[in-house]
Amino acid sequence: MRGAAPLILLAALACDGPAAVDGGVDAAAPEDGGVDAGEDAGPGELVAEAGDGFYAIVGEAARLDGSMSVGATSYRWDFGDGRGWDAPRPEAVADVVYDREGRFRAFLTVSDATGRTRTDSVLVNVTYPVVHVPRAAGTVATWPAREEVAVVSPDSDELAVFSHAGDALTLVRRVATGADPRTVTVFEDRWVVVCSDDDEVDLIDADGALARVALPPASRPHGVVGEGGALFVTLSATGRVARIEGGVVVSTFDAIEDARGIAALPDGRLLVTRWRSPDAEAQMVALSPDGVTSEVWTLGYDPQAGSDTESGGVPSYLEQVAVSPTGRLAAVPSTQAAIGEGLFRSPRPLTFQTTVRAAVSYLDPIGGVEDFARRKLFDDRGLASAATFSSRGDFLYVAMRGSRSVERLDVLSGAQAGSILEVGYAPQGLALSADDRLLFVDAYLSRELVIYDVGRTGAIPTELGRATIPSAEPLAEDILRGKILFNDSADERLAFDSYIACAHCHLEGRSDHRTWDFTDRGEGLRNTIDLLGRAGVGDGPLHWSANFDEVQDFEHDIRGPFGGTGLMSDADFHTGSRDTTLGDPKAGVSADLDALAAYVTSLDRHLPSPFRADDGSLPVEAARGRAVFAAAGCPTCHLGEELTDSGFESPGVPRLHDVGTLGPGSGQRLGGPLPGIDTPTLHGLWQSAPYLHDGSAATLHDVLTVRNPADRHGTTSGLSASELDDLEAYLRCLDGRAD
Ligand code: HEC
Ligand code: HEC
Repeated sequence: MRGAAPLILLAALACDGPAAVDGGVDAAAPEDGGVDAGEDAGPGELVAEAGDGFYAIVGEAARLDGSMSVGATSYRWDFGDGRGWDAPRPEAVADVVYDREGRFRAFLTVSDATGRTRTDSVLVNVTYPVVHVPRAAGTVATWPAREEVAVVSPDSDELAVFSHAGDALTLVRRVATGADPRTVTVFEDRWVVVCSDDDEVDLIDADGALARVALPPASRPHGVVGEGGALFVTLSATGRVARIEGGVVVSTFDAIEDARGIAALPDGRLLVTRWRSPDAEAQMVALSPDGVTSEVWTLGYDPQAGSDTESGGVPSYLEQVAVSPTGRLAAVPSTQAAIGEGLFRSPRPLTFQTTVRAAVSYLDPIGGVEDFARRKLFDDRGLASAATFSSRGDFLYVAMRGSRSVERLDVLSGAQAGSILEVGYAPQGLALSADDRLLFVDAYLSRELVIYDVGRTGAIPTELGRATIPSAEPLAEDILRGKILFNDSADERLAFDSYIACAHCHLEGRSDHRTWDFTDRGEGLRNTIDLLGRAGVGDGPLHWSANFDEVQDFEHDIRGPFGGTGLMSDADFHTGSRDTTLGDPKAGVSADLDALAAYVTSLDRHLPSPFRADDGSLPVEAARGRAVFAAAGCPTCHLGEELTDSGFESPGVPRLHDVGTLGPGSGQRLGGPLPGIDTPTLHGLWQSAPYLHDGSAATLHDVLTVRNPADRHGTTSGLSASELDDLEAYLRCLDGRAD
């Protein structure tokens, strides 16, 4: 929605909650102090007193106690769930069994001998019993028995451990970990840290001593959970799960492509999320811990048309699954990518608010069925990155990555129960203390762990402190600045109403695997390009149509489709031909725009392909495929180290090729004819499906066959099935390393 100011959100926090602020509220249960409809107490005083708000369990007796009332001769209870006493009774106490969860406001009416009446109320918070200990890794984890909290620092390769005794963060130690630590959990009295770049799990004991468990090379481990005496680690590059017992990998088994988050289910199974969704639905897989049985669970495609308040699409960027301690509900934070919008696919252009929208989807953690009607879409938020339930499962905290906020949802009513704003840049991990009082937020790009007192649900959470995570800032100043700008949507120079950040389509600098409809931008259907290894303009001009010649040209997207005011001043932007993408250079005009470019340019490393042999060499079929590649004429265009001839023939005229792949959705280039496509690099193909500018090839096989019927894209029609297999095997090994 347009123009919801932060102030409004803060106000919502005070009155939207399950309980309004009214003096000292007990941390134990949401309560609003009730309505006391009595008049002045005087002689012959009559006061109704319904007691303090409390928690009760579904199916178990709860006591409504009006005995602290004064002057009453009869009492009448309304239980708040549609039931109550038909007539006043002489006793003050009602024992009630609620048959469903909810926040029920029970009313007590008392009367005296003169016929006067007074009324008071009490909030009864009814939840299901706690039967499950939620276990899922995130970037931050607590160790309740030690009153410690630890957070990974993926850019400095450290784990920072803090004590939260006395409600303040005190550094216990920083431990140097393997490269790119992503998630942490506690298991058998050790911190368990998963290090993606080094393909290892680090087991760190309470004194900081570290033991390494090696995982398969180039497997890019990500999530971890302890279950039944074993650790289970997702291997994102291979879509498998490794089972670790006694510090060694005892087996690995198939889970799901792009495997990312992992959680323990109430019945002992494991739930693994697929990070980037296919177009039709988001996916997860429920696995038995031996890997023998597996069942795919889905989150549906939302067909609704984009508007000011809603947008449809597919939930994607699934990472964590939060399972409620009641064992009855699982919540999955994500973005919802509105891939049905855009002028080729719909009558509507993509706008700042109908492109990406933060979502939380709910499903039943036993049967795996989504409660689609309950999916929560957030106004003014683009990507929900992490979530955690309170200890009774009645509140859910959700981190909003680009928006620098944490939202609290009342799970029982479905209502929003406040926002914490300005937590810091790119919050991507959350943890709660066991008593629900302390919330820890990993403000990743502020490099801070932030601690809030959230114990009084009716009150505004108070920030208790911030602690620096890394021992020293690992990035150069301009690159950190650029990385913040890349990941942020709250800065109004970058986006209107905090929906769009570069990272919401390029999380971690990678591709979201979506094909967006950029027809309204004067382009067409465009497959998101992975930025890793491309080093900004390292591979030549940008985009499939080579319509940008410097990263600073993203000023056009920021001012246009994102709705931002721009990182450049209007005067600077409109000087000379700077306001055309191939016009006068924009570099050197805005320090922030240059920082954004410096960050994108720093992404100069492709991810290693897991299809290579363990020593990094080409397997035999791939080595044979290299010869097929040469014989089929591929190096005519895919040449040099970067395997592309991308560049300008003359100033403003890029080298484009029509290799027979243009179709009705391909659209235009800069609002004019599209004569061909800029040759892409082939490094990173192992993980970048779908292929081609319009995403029209689901597999490499399709690129070489159905999408190349007339041999305009290399001579592939004469290749035998085994030659094609070899060629594909070769293509899957290309990752920037020498053949
Ligand atoms: C709505 C999703 C979306 C957002 C938001 C987004 N991108 Fe992209 N990005 C894409 C798509 C789709 C392509 C391919 C578009 C094309 O070729 O015309 C792309 C291509 C690129 C490329 C080209 C890479 C190459 O080598 O050709 C770069 C660089 C890039 N994006 C950077 C950014 C930056 C910087 C931002 C933020 C200012 C950003 N993107 C925001 C979807 C997005
Ligand atoms: C005439 C120049 C040319 C030749 C020859 C050529 N390519 Fe391409 N290649 C391109 C262009 C241009 C594209 C982009 C086409 C598109 O997106 O529609 C492309 C795209 C691709 C893609 C998809 C990349 C992606 O990221 O989606 C693959 C894979 C590929 N080429 C492999 C090959 C192979 C294998 C050969 C040899 C059989 C070959 N190409 C020959 C120019 C060429």
